[in-house]
Amino acid sequence: MPKKTAVKCPPDAPKDRIAFRDSGIHGMGCFAVCTIRKGMPIIEYVGERITKAEGALRCDANNRFIFVLDDETDVDGDVSWNPARHINHGCAPNAEAEIFGDQIWIMAIRNIAEGEEITFNYGYDLEDHKSHPCRCGAESCVGYMVAMEFFPKLTRKDQVPAAKTPKDSSRRRGALAATLAV
Ligand SMILES: C[S@@+](CC[C@H](N)C(=O)[O-])C[C@H]1O[C@@H](n2cnc3c(N)ncnc32)[C@H](O)[C@@H]1O
Ligand SMILES: [Zn+2]
Repeated sequence: MPKKTAVKCPPDAPKDRIAFRDSGIHGMGCFAVCTIRKGMPIIEYVGERITKAEGALRCDANNRFIFVLDDETDVDGDVSWNPARHINHGCAPNAEAEIFGDQIWIMAIRNIAEGEEITFNYGYDLEDHKSHPCRCGAESCVGYMVAMEFFPKLTRKDQVPAAKTPKDSSRRRGALAATLAV
């Protein structure tokens, strides 16, 4: 887990760059309604701030909207005032989740064309990955919604047991994870 040091200012995103509608990946998705340039903020992921213990309980109860904020706090994004909860996972994403202080922002990591679905990598742990099959449709899809660091393990015929993966406090089974903006 990277150290919290200097933190960039949280971005502010105009609301008219995105729209939410049915997705070919899963349920509802988030789509660009104009070109979104690399580095632009897209939307903040907001929700109820809860303890790690409560976050673990809710993950175990199959809540798929829990985001790991830091070592003390999780964010439960399963609230109506969090449209970012509709953003799907992608194995070749055009966005990423970044933490700015105590805010989670979805940021463009390349230029995104009008009409493209916005996806970010959920950063799921390898543990229990078979419960999270991926249907992102990317040519490079690894078949499961796991963090990119685990891709080589899956593309090598999925032979490495999850138990051999070192534990990382920024990841937990079934919880979304972001990178830290410094
Ligand atoms: C944060 S929610 C996504 C919101 C959802 N699209 C909606 O209708 O609001 C996470 C859940 O969406 C589904 N999902 C997201 N990305 C997916 C993908 N690439 N492949 C399969 N299911 C996905 C999984 O069921 C996952 O647990
Ligand atoms: Zn995929």
